[in-house]
Amino acid sequence: MINSELPSYLEQEDRVAERFKKLKEREVILEVKDLYKKFPTPKGEITALKEINFKTHRREFVCVIGPSGCGKSTLIRILAGLESPTQGQVLLDGKPKSEPGPDRGMVFQGYTLFPWLTIKKNVMFGLQMKGMTNVDAESEAMQWVDLVGLSKFAESYPHQLSGGMKQRVAIARALANQPRILLMDEPFGALDPQTRLKMQTNLLEIWRNIDITVLFITHDLDEAIFLADRILVLKANPGEVEELIEVSVPRPRSPEQFLSPEFLATKKRLEELIHPEGEEDDEGFQLIRMTNVGDDVE
Ligand SMILES: Nc1ncnc2c1ncn2[C@@H]1O[C@H](COP(=O)(O)OP(=O)(O)OP(=O)(O)O)[C@@H](O)[C@H]1O
Ligand SMILES: [Mg+2]
Repeated sequence: MINSELPSYLEQEDRVAERFKKLKEREVILEVKDLYKKFPTPKGEITALKEINFKTHRREFVCVIGPSGCGKSTLIRILAGLESPTQGQVLLDGKPKSEPGPDRGMVFQGYTLFPWLTIKKNVMFGLQMKGMTNVDAESEAMQWVDLVGLSKFAESYPHQLSGGMKQRVAIARALANQPRILLMDEPFGALDPQTRLKMQTNLLEIWRNIDITVLFITHDLDEAIFLADRILVLKANPGEVEELIEVSVPRPRSPEQFLSPEFLATKKRLEELIHPEGEEDDEGFQLIRMTNVGDDVE
């Protein structure tokens, strides 16, 4: 299909419009209000985030995309309470948050499991920290390990697992604390494409079955469209909201939809936003020729 035949990314089938109507009637879980983050650097102050405003509703799946350096990780770190904003507020269930807490679960790209603990004990850790007895923590942890399909590996150690399996444990561990929101910073970025697609499908299945709101950062446009209800597009220098897109691809999602007109229309819009035509590469990357004339391969 060529681009001119694509529908507008704003067009929604009735069932999709109906879903969004219902979603917006749900309570607001996360509200970001007029958020700014400035970092002092030797070259002067840089504004990593500017005037960020958005809300996510209960059980919504929001993806955040934007060019490298636009402030995605800074944003998620502020939401997690790991970094403080220069200005503005983060509200969870209407209450301001400035410290980390069990109401926000985090999954990063790097594998952050404790290598000396078994899978089960990794998931039990947060529960024991909350004061749960060992017996209760164990049975609770096993339910989450089961949910991510790793019961057989409960007694294994992280180094015995593949990258995808480790990230499933990280998801189980984050969910075991029963957070209100799951904050994920490129969690599948280091995985090969096949494993990545399996993980995306697995995550959607988990999200459908439990009461969790997800904020998911990615570089990958297909991943964002496949997962999200809405996509928050940031631009760089300074990191500002460019657009908040409602994904018109119906749910439940499946990999066949990657080539559907709605999917391609959304992707085209995201590409326009992220790589505007005529944009100069500001890094000034130049290739130096290191072969001899007449030595061409093309
Ligand atoms: N602690 C810090 N001190 C100074 N500058 C910082 C700090 N952390 C981030 N920055 C700057 O803030 C901007 C946003 O960085 P951030 O890591 O949030 O971007 P990102 O969108 O996550 O990038 P990527 O897609 O490459 O992960 C960048 O210009 C970065 O250099
Ligand atoms: Mg980042």
